[in-house]
Amino acid sequence: MRRTTQSAEETRALAESIGRLLRPGDLVTLSGELGAGKTVFAQGLGAGLDVAEPVSSPTFALVHEYAGRLPVWHLDTYRVHSLDELIDLSWSDLLAGGGVVVVEWPERIAPALPPERLEVRLTYGEGDTREIEMEFHGERMRSVVTALTGPGEPG
Ligand SMILES: Nc1ncnc2c1ncn2[C@@H]1O[C@H](COP(=O)(O)OP(=O)(O)OP(=O)(O)O)[C@@H](O)[C@H]1O
Ligand SMILES: [Mg+2]
Repeated sequence: MRRTTQSAEETRALAESIGRLLRPGDLVTLSGELGAGKTVFAQGLGAGLDVAEPVSSPTFALVHEYAGRLPVWHLDTYRVHSLDELIDLSWSDLLAGGGVVVVEWPERIAPALPPERLEVRLTYGEGDTREIEMEFHGERMRSVVTALTGPGEPG
């Protein structure tokens, strides 16, 4: 599924519609250059998960936990250079923690990512435009794209 947004607000709204459909155990990865809008997208997911506090970049903390209708763990692995660092994070506990895990810079931890996930890639277009490509992997995630678009459009 592919969308073009014209503003940060539009990206947030798109992500919010997805956040509303997320369930315990779901994983969303956010890829794109610096400033592409990964954190904006994460803010929208948070809104859709009823997170009241502002979602900000977790760059210095590696992971931020938010309380929404589910727990939300927002990771920015930009500075992760070894999978060992994930052990300190209790990565597997996060995945099994009954919440939603959102990862910026998933390339850094690719071997540790379970196959069932929503992959979001953001790229710059003209001006404030962003191209947003969303790939839904696995049965569970396919049900999300169906809920979003109806049965016609494949993930
Ligand atoms: N269509 C759009 N979608 C998302 N963000 C947009 C859009 N147009 C402009 N912006 C702006 O682009 C910036 C995106 O910043 P954001 O922090 O989300 O990027 P990021 O990908 O998380 O960067 P980093 O890699 O530094 O964490 C914001 O300032 C936002 O207002
Ligand atoms: Mg960011």
